[in-house]
Amino acid sequence: MSLDRRQIILGALSGAMTLGVPARLLAQTDVARVDALIGKMTLEEKAGQMTCLADSFRPYNPPNPEAGIQNEKQLAQEIVKGRVGCLFNGIGVAGGLRAQEMAVKESRLGIPLLLAGDVIHGLKTIFPVPLAEAASFDPALAERTARAMALEATAAGLHLTFAPMVDIARDQRWGRVVEGSGEDLYLGRLYAAARVRGFQGRNLRRDDSLLACPKHFAAYGAVAAGMEYGSVDISEETLRETHLPPFDSAFAAGALTTMAAFSEINGVPATADRTLLTDILRGEMTFRGFVFSDYTADEELIAHGYAEDERDAARLAVLAGVDMSMQSGLYVRHLPDLVKSGAVPMGTIDVAVRRILYVKTAIGLFDNPYRSLDPAAETARIGTSGHRALARESAARSIVLLQNKDAVLPLGADDGEKIALIGPFAEDRDNLYGPWAFYGDKGKGVDIATGMRAAMRDPTRLMIEPGCAIDGPLDGGLARAVEAAKAADVVVLAIGESQDMSGEAQSRTTIEIPLVQQALAEAVAATGKPVIVLLRHGRALALHGAVANAQAILATWFLGSEAGHAIADILFGRVDPSAKLPVSFPWESGQEPFFYDRKSTGRPVVDQRTEYKARYATADNSARFPFGHGLTYTDLVLDKLKLSDAALRWDQAIEVRATLTNKGKRRGTQAVQLYLRDRVASRTRPIRELKRIERVTLNPGDSKVVRFSISRADLSFIGAGNKRIVEPGLFDLWIGDSSIGGLHTQFTLYAGEPAAT
Ligand code: NOJ
Repeated sequence: MSLDRRQIILGALSGAMTLGVPARLLAQTDVARVDALIGKMTLEEKAGQMTCLADSFRPYNPPNPEAGIQNEKQLAQEIVKGRVGCLFNGIGVAGGLRAQEMAVKESRLGIPLLLAGDVIHGLKTIFPVPLAEAASFDPALAERTARAMALEATAAGLHLTFAPMVDIARDQRWGRVVEGSGEDLYLGRLYAAARVRGFQGRNLRRDDSLLACPKHFAAYGAVAAGMEYGSVDISEETLRETHLPPFDSAFAAGALTTMAAFSEINGVPATADRTLLTDILRGEMTFRGFVFSDYTADEELIAHGYAEDERDAARLAVLAGVDMSMQSGLYVRHLPDLVKSGAVPMGTIDVAVRRILYVKTAIGLFDNPYRSLDPAAETARIGTSGHRALARESAARSIVLLQNKDAVLPLGADDGEKIALIGPFAEDRDNLYGPWAFYGDKGKGVDIATGMRAAMRDPTRLMIEPGCAIDGPLDGGLARAVEAAKAADVVVLAIGESQDMSGEAQSRTTIEIPLVQQALAEAVAATGKPVIVLLRHGRALALHGAVANAQAILATWFLGSEAGHAIADILFGRVDPSAKLPVSFPWESGQEPFFYDRKSTGRPVVDQRTEYKARYATADNSARFPFGHGLTYTDLVLDKLKLSDAALRWDQAIEVRATLTNKGKRRGTQAVQLYLRDRVASRTRPIRELKRIERVTLNPGDSKVVRFSISRADLSFIGAGNKRIVEPGLFDLWIGDSSIGGLHTQFTLYAGEPAAT
């Protein structure tokens, strides 16, 4: 390997390449600049650079409990003294400029602040929650929406977003399922990379590039029983097989920061886990950026029972590899003394500061401290009509058609049918955005009724009745809803979760429609009118009774600013549904954690009637709606599955082909999915794993040959000694439209030449 001059300089100056961002992002002058600064910084200023505090300069809506400094005057003093390096969760150019000018002009060394925030699925224009967007099975769409979010966030005075959340989430009780890409590793990897690319754009130094912070490192989604902030007890194999790879993808796409998880893993809180944050993250995964703690997570080491006091907590976190402490203020309070007393080496501090300053350098902050603080951009780039149009497109493409008996959908926009729109979400505007959109303007989203009326030639044929509130009855509501249903030809029933039922700290013991809404569904269904259920939700749900038996069911999640328009687009067939479930819908809550790529067990269920098999006595352990499921309005048929060779040689690839034909009467899009199973291995392997997706759009009567290439790399897994390995042998392959069924064939991987037959 040949090193270029800059790499040599970087290596020489910083001691090792693992100390900062990749050399290609830094000019030689940047390296010299960082070095010169570090030479001048006092210990307190270094600890200040490693401190991130809530941005009380700018109005913000805190998603976190109150902690730390909460007033502008006090924060200003800290900035001037160089005791803070990063502010978070405030937006607005004017306040950002005030804070930045203070840092640049009034602090001794003039080091600019990094301005961070949680822009999870939009700033003012709210896009679908990340889980919904994963349902599009189209990472390129997520890249586009992430770019739009970055344009808005950087116009509002931010340099970094604490996103994407790349935690694989397999327990739907966990409220934060809503923030990620669901249960699947392959999908998770694609979306992690796409979102990082979208946020950051091609050139980090541009005013509209938003640094990404993939989080939460690691395995936060594996908290026991889905309980928020709970403990993770996990094998090394599962950690490496399932939870680390999305971070790999995010880093490979250029992410320069990450955030340590709140949770403990196998008895050690992630915030204090040196093996995780240094040996694995930097040593094995060669991560080059810097690590944030989560909100006061260093201080929480005390409550975990891992640190004696604040000082001990700061020591443990910094030694583990947390470079930037969020909100507790522990670093600036304790690191100077910890270094003086010899408990923390000065070298550890210098490395962390260097990492942080390199990231600031990489985004051009020293050359232009006022980047992303442009009042003109703030008026021009936020909430544009282009972003609204993209929000509508992505929302429509996130809606999953779960069920459509007798082709009740799409509804005719022009015919005379009377429609009763019933349910607490019919006209609701408070639950359109989802739990992580606190910068969005309240009340500016399009509700379902408004969206439907706009799509109908004669809006007077829409009757509206809430029927009940989200979690309680309305006086006379049920009776009025039943009357409306009786008077209508078809019922659209908008039910589900409020937006504060998912998100951080919103784990639930059951994942069902609230009882009062279930009762509404039963009463409406009893009228005998066809019912189309519009689910609102931040997780997979266990559906029952009249909801599960409705003629049609659409998973509509939290779709953001354009929710109502997008729902109407699908209801009336202006847009054809093409989304797929990124999470399995189980029969019952008690099946959780439930995910499609589970193990066979020694007693797999073949026939539901057989006893003593791996199932619950009270419920079939399959999905009501499986991962990857999603119907269209047409009839897309796969056939003619062929392999170029049933023998895969070690260093070669085989081509897999199948033909997709549109046998229906409407245009439609299928996300064709390829799954594999390793039949026999030195570690039991899942019953199937997603390996490829291709979205194909066809007009009626058209066909397309879909081609995939499979090579040894697709067959690897974590084996003995936690090493990634590949074993020769027989593999099942399916091509289909969900994780169940599909066209099936087999091939064999050979280490040497296959025996002649
Ligand atoms: C706590 C959350 O866990 C994290 O995801 C978020 O970025 C921080 N709070 C900052 O708001």
